[in-house]
Amino acid sequence: MAKKLFIKHASELVTCAGSFPKIGNAMNDIGIIPDGALIIENDTIIAAGTTAELQQKYDGEDMTVIDATGKCVLPGFIDAHTHLVFAGNRSEEFSWRLKGMRYLDIMERGGGIMNTVRATRKAAKTELLELGQSRLKAMLAMGVTTVEGKSGYGLDLITEIKQLEVMQELNKNQPVEIIPTFMGAHAVLPEYKGRSGEFIDYLITEVLPVVAESKLAAFCDIFCEQGVFSVDESRRLLLAAQKLGLKSKLHADEIVQLGGAELAAEIGAVSAEHLLHISDQGIERMAETKTVGVLLPATAFSLREQFAPARKMIDAGVPVALATDFNPGSCYTSSIPLVIALAALSMHMTPAEIITALTANAAAAVGAAERIGSLEAGKQADIIILEEPSHLFLPYRVGMNLVETVIKKGNVVWQNK
Ligand code: NIG
Ligand code: FE
Repeated sequence: MAKKLFIKHASELVTCAGSFPKIGNAMNDIGIIPDGALIIENDTIIAAGTTAELQQKYDGEDMTVIDATGKCVLPGFIDAHTHLVFAGNRSEEFSWRLKGMRYLDIMERGGGIMNTVRATRKAAKTELLELGQSRLKAMLAMGVTTVEGKSGYGLDLITEIKQLEVMQELNKNQPVEIIPTFMGAHAVLPEYKGRSGEFIDYLITEVLPVVAESKLAAFCDIFCEQGVFSVDESRRLLLAAQKLGLKSKLHADEIVQLGGAELAAEIGAVSAEHLLHISDQGIERMAETKTVGVLLPATAFSLREQFAPARKMIDAGVPVALATDFNPGSCYTSSIPLVIALAALSMHMTPAEIITALTANAAAAVGAAERIGSLEAGKQADIIILEEPSHLFLPYRVGMNLVETVIKKGNVVWQNK
């Protein structure tokens, strides 16, 4: 049996211990242990406490040691919303948006998501795998140990399955774990223009059953947006998916206030995401049902839209998570440091709330709260070590990557040295 791993003398061990998702003031409780330590056996944390406690308990055992003196140790970040498997790029559309053209107008003209759909349909699986691998490597270097990945650049059976299979393959050949989401309802195919309901019928009858049968996705998501899919269409698809065992997520109230947040609460979705234009009633309903609000400040920034009302949501009792939304259209960045900076400086979240939103509440958003998101005995050993002594440095050193070491399932998988 492999030797145990002893991480000791962390100036701050941020455990994020407790029950998930964390709500209201509990988001500020990140369970800091000064001079903290962890014992890891294989892929699991078996003890968390002060260095003195654990040194005494495991006295005399021959263990591999990591000395974290002067460093902050925290749970691996979970990026709970990305679209990471795609081909091509939309740099030209971005330049149009810089001149003032609107995202939905570009989409309406056949650009936007359809542009990426065309490139992704053409791409060989090997190309998508290589692209996925290099994107995940960049995420890992910023402390991401788990990522949610959405399909949705196929919009037909073959390419949706191809994207999901690429994610399955990536799960085997690199360390960042991917939680897969089926998002065949990402845009309306041009041949269904003006008949989005019929496109939903097609997804329900032809695509969903194959996705469910193949067990390639844990969640089903839909772009519930003006000019894309209505609240009624979203309800229909997500309930059909639930019947087949796929949990619900929604792109909700991103550009126009449609009532996606209310729908998420109504149908027991695990999360509603974006929420830039969430209504007060939507906030209330999500707080009642503890639906996680996954907020994506880098998208609001890239679209030059207002930020989601994070403060109002947290204060009203909505469990809030943060993610990048990495995708080639609205937000081509997987930068966790950028998300942290925007959450602190533009959304008025506290440093502790931001950490909860990237760990504990993100774990709840991807349906993995019992396994990841905190540093406690029994949890998977997904851990990051910062080059600074306190979590307060994360927003303070604006836009900088402070991650020095990343441990996934008990193994050191990244070192910035
Ligand atoms: O989260 N809103 C829909 N989906 C993405 C954008 C995808 C794209 O433009 O390629 C989003 O913003
Ligand atoms: Fe998205």
